[in-house]
Amino acid sequence: MEVLSIKNLHKKFGKKLQYAVNNASLNVNKGELLALVGESGSGKTTLLRLVAGFEEADAGQISINSDKVVDDNFSMKPEKRKIGMVFQDYALFPHLTVAENIKFGLSKNQFPNLNDRVREVTDMVGLSSYENRYPHHLSGGQQQRVALARALAPNPGLILLDEPFSNLDAVLKDQVREEVRSIIKKAGATALFVTHDMRDALSSADRIAILKDGKIQQVGTPRELYETPKNLYVASFFGKINAMNATAENGTYKLKAGEIKGAKTDKTGQILIAIRPENIEILTEKQEGTFPAKVVLAQYFGDHQQVHADIGAETHVVIHAHEKILFEKDDNIFLRFNPSKIHILDTCWYPGLVS
Ligand SMILES: Nc1ncnc2c1ncn2[C@@H]1O[C@H](COP(=O)(O)OP(=O)(O)O)[C@@H](O)[C@H]1O
Ligand SMILES: [Mg+2]
Repeated sequence: MEVLSIKNLHKKFGKKLQYAVNNASLNVNKGELLALVGESGSGKTTLLRLVAGFEEADAGQISINSDKVVDDNFSMKPEKRKIGMVFQDYALFPHLTVAENIKFGLSKNQFPNLNDRVREVTDMVGLSSYENRYPHHLSGGQQQRVALARALAPNPGLILLDEPFSNLDAVLKDQVREEVRSIIKKAGATALFVTHDMRDALSSADRIAILKDGKIQQVGTPRELYETPKNLYVASFFGKINAMNATAENGTYKLKAGEIKGAKTDKTGQILIAIRPENIEILTEKQEGTFPAKVVLAQYFGDHQQVHADIGAETHVVIHAHEKILFEKDDNIFLRFNPSKIHILDTCWYPGLVS
């Protein structure tokens, strides 16, 4: 069941030519944690603020739990939308204790015993012994959990989080991501969170929607977006990828530098193929179906070696090798492209194209 439904949403600021949110449609299902990712300025915060009601849409519809909150000439007040919000800087009241911060937005009508509800949510976020502390006596991760507890306390239909992990250092981030995810799941809440960090999205979200120039490029599970990105933008956002022009014919991809056979595709004609660096195998001896190549650059990263190789016809590819042997510049090698790991990208998308 859909908790949040966004249809053809548009928002433009002032006299700007470009839409900040351009015809966005998206659903978030009950109990789901959906990450909205994109680079800075892609429209993530604007989309979140439109859902919360802090911005007014130019056109489009938004429903939350089947209630229309945005429609033509109608916009429900933010406080009526039953949304919990976690801000980037947590926005805790510094002069109030943890318990008082959480109690702040609770109504006696909904929870006759406010203290019981506060105890329930501090328990849920693992801060029951911190109820009487002030925010500045808490670590960043703990403040984050208070903000989350405050958002969850009124049992909102939907939780929105703007860059929830951006104020945390790298070590803490791994831990807090897991905590936040498990708290949201335990509460049975539905959440939409915004991040510019693809690692946040891949590791924490059930599904990811990726934005570019206000347009949603693709929505899918982390694995779908990493392994079968629709276009070069999505592919590149989630890590390195080798994209090459090819001609497809009878399950063979013909490149300028050679042929890759055994692809399970019925595509024919000009295509754009892509393969991740870990799906190219390096061999030291020629075998059938391999491409002779020369190492142009080899970089050691501990858990893998990143090898840039020239396969001829002005084509360079990047490989992530996990072999024990280390390759060096000018080594002659042979590359095998795993045909089942090659996928076809949408050629209708060009970097920088604005429409
Ligand atoms: N209040 C505003 N007034 C004018 N332009 C804005 C405003 N808020 C955002 N924008 C513009 O809208 C676009 C999207 O911004 P934003 O939603 O903040 O992106 P993100 O959160 O992905 O970094 C940007 O071009 C930004 O400059
Ligand atoms: Mg933002």
